[in-house]
Amino acid sequence: MKILVVGTGYVGLVTGACFAEMGHQVICLDIDHDKIAKLKEGVVPIYEPGLEEIVKRNYKAGRLEFTTDYSYGVSESLFCFIAVSTPCDEDGSADLSYVQQAAMQIAEQMNGYKIIVNKSTVPVGSGRAVADIVHTTLSKRGVSFEFDIVSNPEFLKEGDAISDFMKPDRIVIGTDNPRVAALMEELYAPFNINHDRLITMDLFSAEMTKYAANAMLASRISFMNEMAGLCERVGADISMVRKGIGSDQRIGYAFLYAGAGYGGSCFPKDVQALRATGREYDFPTPLIDAVEEVNVRQKMLLGEKIIAHFGDSLEGKTLAIWGLAFKPGTDDMREAPALVLIRQLLEKGAFVRLYDPVAMPRTKEILKKSPQVTWCRDEFEAAKGVDAIALVTEWKQFRFVDFEKVQPKQRLFFDGRNQYAPQEMAARGYEYYSIGQPPVRVADEVYS
Ligand SMILES: NC(=O)c1ccc[n+]([C@@H]2O[C@H](COP(=O)([O-])OP(=O)(O)OC[C@H]3O[C@@H](n4cnc5c(N)ncnc54)[C@H](O)[C@@H]3O)[C@@H](O)[C@H]2O)c1
Repeated sequence: MKILVVGTGYVGLVTGACFAEMGHQVICLDIDHDKIAKLKEGVVPIYEPGLEEIVKRNYKAGRLEFTTDYSYGVSESLFCFIAVSTPCDEDGSADLSYVQQAAMQIAEQMNGYKIIVNKSTVPVGSGRAVADIVHTTLSKRGVSFEFDIVSNPEFLKEGDAISDFMKPDRIVIGTDNPRVAALMEELYAPFNINHDRLITMDLFSAEMTKYAANAMLASRISFMNEMAGLCERVGADISMVRKGIGSDQRIGYAFLYAGAGYGGSCFPKDVQALRATGREYDFPTPLIDAVEEVNVRQKMLLGEKIIAHFGDSLEGKTLAIWGLAFKPGTDDMREAPALVLIRQLLEKGAFVRLYDPVAMPRTKEILKKSPQVTWCRDEFEAAKGVDAIALVTEWKQFRFVDFEKVQPKQRLFFDGRNQYAPQEMAARGYEYYSIGQPPVRVADEVYS
């Protein structure tokens, strides 16, 4: 089947590449000329394990094309997926300008019946709004073509995007038209062989499902972070509490970790957008409000622990930061907790030595040049001679670090992801602070 995917970011490129891998004919379109030029040269502009291989293979096989030309992309395709960004507006609501723009540009080039599929995360009612834009644009052109709007929210996780797309837990299709539902089923048939993953529902429910899913996941994180804060005060250990509650089948273990707070391109903005929907409908959302409030507080926590340890000024102190990306497996720095920590430390006069296996280039684009910042080759170089190490992103390579090769000036560790057993860190001579676990202190003479 012939597919156009508008927007070649994390979602659009994965969607296009995976459809092509399953034998569909895909055109990926973006307004970013640089990105399209790179993709044509086989350079994938984002870090996503396994993606480059699939992109290259399918591009070579002629099943995957890249263009900036809407006229070509739309005229060749039956399905037009919209996978452009929906960032936060100033008031927290979803900024739909990119989606609206994409809808208009599709309508300007329509040459017959199209199925316009919204993969971007958009508030309830946006599908209808897209339909209005298409109608208006077509009537301005003085043409009349039939079209359908489908909501097909995406649930992939960066870092695992390929396997999430290839073997999704579910494929949500929001449409009121059974004929379109059947065509969507045909499109997704290669992903639906093992067992039926398709859940067909009305447009509004599909749009709402994506927000409800992200709000639920964010709630679990904030819940655990709030429990962790209480654990620290009462002397309990959140990792034990996690085992104790996760074993309850109604709760489960997944997504039940305390840490340095959630970031990324989805949870923060989607939680805010859901709150904005509540405001729009004059329906208070105290639970969702609290999820965000707890997360804002949590992102400050690691920095506060460090400042509390050293006193108010960090002048003359140097800290290593292990991990910058908002989570392992990606180079995405959007809303990354590491950025909050770095800014806290720099403001207090500290020097920072930064290392991330893949997110350094993106971090360099975000942080202002500063003599306080040193970019390091690996975790060992970052830790060399520092007053403390802070772990923010739990890359696997940090889990089994050879601590013999880690040579800080002071053995002081702030672990934002509870990666190590506190007693083992104590045995290595570290004063060890983590999240929701009793700190492990080592007598001063150990340092000398
Ligand atoms: N990143 C994720 O993990 C994830 C997961 C599920 C859902 N989503 C949702 O998917 C959507 C896309 O997210 P993303 O992370 O892929 O965004 P992104 O910022 O990585 O990519 C968006 C792309 O769209 C392009 N674009 C913008 N306007 C355009 C237009 N008019 N025509 C053509 N291209 C245009 C941009 O140049 C960019 O390349 C968002 O709504 C997001 O909430 C993201």
